[in-house]
Amino acid sequence: MNCARKKIHQSMASCFGLNCVEKRFSRLVPFISSSLFGKYSTQCKPDSSNSEFWKDLQYRIKLSGPISVANYMKLVLTHPSKGYYINQDVFGQQGDFTTSPEISQLFGEMIGIWIISECQKFHKKPFNIVELGPGRGTLARDVLRVFHQLQRSNQISLHFVEVSPVLAEIQKKNLCTQEEMEIDASKGKFYKHGKTTENVDIFWYKSVLDLPEGFSVFIAQEFFDALPIHKFQKTEDGWFEIMVDVDNSRGEEGKFRYVLQKTEACGSFISKNERRNHTEFSPELVNIIKYISTAITQNGGFSLIIDYGHNGDKTDTFRAFRQHKQWDPLVEPGTADLTADVDFALLRRVAEETHKILCFGPVTQGDFLTELGINVRLMNLCKDATKDQRKQLELGYKKIVDSDQMGSCFKVMSMFPYVLKEYLEKLPVHGFSSLSSK
Ligand SMILES: C[S@@+](CC[C@H](N)C(=O)[O-])C[C@H]1O[C@@H](n2cnc3c(N)ncnc32)[C@H](O)[C@@H]1O
Repeated sequence: MNCARKKIHQSMASCFGLNCVEKRFSRLVPFISSSLFGKYSTQCKPDSSNSEFWKDLQYRIKLSGPISVANYMKLVLTHPSKGYYINQDVFGQQGDFTTSPEISQLFGEMIGIWIISECQKFHKKPFNIVELGPGRGTLARDVLRVFHQLQRSNQISLHFVEVSPVLAEIQKKNLCTQEEMEIDASKGKFYKHGKTTENVDIFWYKSVLDLPEGFSVFIAQEFFDALPIHKFQKTEDGWFEIMVDVDNSRGEEGKFRYVLQKTEACGSFISKNERRNHTEFSPELVNIIKYISTAITQNGGFSLIIDYGHNGDKTDTFRAFRQHKQWDPLVEPGTADLTADVDFALLRRVAEETHKILCFGPVTQGDFLTELGINVRLMNLCKDATKDQRKQLELGYKKIVDSDQMGSCFKVMSMFPYVLKEYLEKLPVHGFSSLSSK
């Protein structure tokens, strides 16, 4: 990065008041690495095993046959009444996993700085910040604080795509004043509306298809890994789809099993050039990337995607987490998070196929945050922090930046309209210059 720009950037990173050390309760939760072949935990949750749900699922499979892993994942995670994300707060020490924004306020603050520094290059009017899968709203809260400190709250409105009514309520409680807001359905397809104390409007939607038009910055932090994937296995007889069936020998225990089947998806979702023997494909990811590509080319904007993932080289990444331990995805579905690594090569290919999108990355989360000046922000926060706060801040920083923790398995990618190519060659997108040095 050129020195002048780096300075502007780092001075932004240091310019908040020191009264902003945020409490994070889940910081000390160990990060679980994502090895698929790790041992599954057998420790059971003290609460229910969601048996009514998995018995229904078994009944459905017995009636109509095995279902794809994608269908299984969709039902387990987002079933309208029994889905894993639908009824509960799944984050933090009491939940099943924790995420970068939940670990350290530095994460969301750096994203806030990044949005402002990219936007001010070419867009001065009010704009939408769209967050896909906002969890507890913690990232948005840290982004909003940056906008407030830099007196830019009047430039934005927030738009959350959130499938879980319980999480949407938690987001509203964490971000909005408690006044009841009238929903004026004629103004858009949102299902909830609130206002922050800084008078920023927040709207909630079930799907990207309901989002309003207009210049938008899309943020997807650990969202794509929750989208359903199809799984395929190559055998001597060609490609088969891996399906989920009932394990009749252990049906009463809520156990399912994988079976292979020739399906239409084998013909549609496996690339002719595929060299791996096992592959995963998310049609929902593809559709959302296409949607974002069209939206930012037609209305203006850009996107930032952060997730654990690979460059089209990994194979079997489907796994489950329950109480911070790896869990068998087929046992007691609905009681554990299901996830798969994001295939960034696919994501890039889909975006670039339109010839209207310029992709940057993926780079590692550690490189991205370091280039944005996270260490300067850490030093500034630490100056006036208490000893305990300093320890917490440093622990959080290490967890999200260090390459042996979340710093290298998490990747960051950005999409801009192709028409800005020449412009962005002169004013490169922050956070991605490690690409040119590799
Ligand atoms: C792994 S959590 C990440 C939360 C947050 N971004 C963070 O980093 O803390 C996934 C989020 O996406 C939401 N979600 C999952 N599938 C979704 C879907 N198909 N449509 C909209 N939201 C979804 C979940 O309810 C949750 O808020």
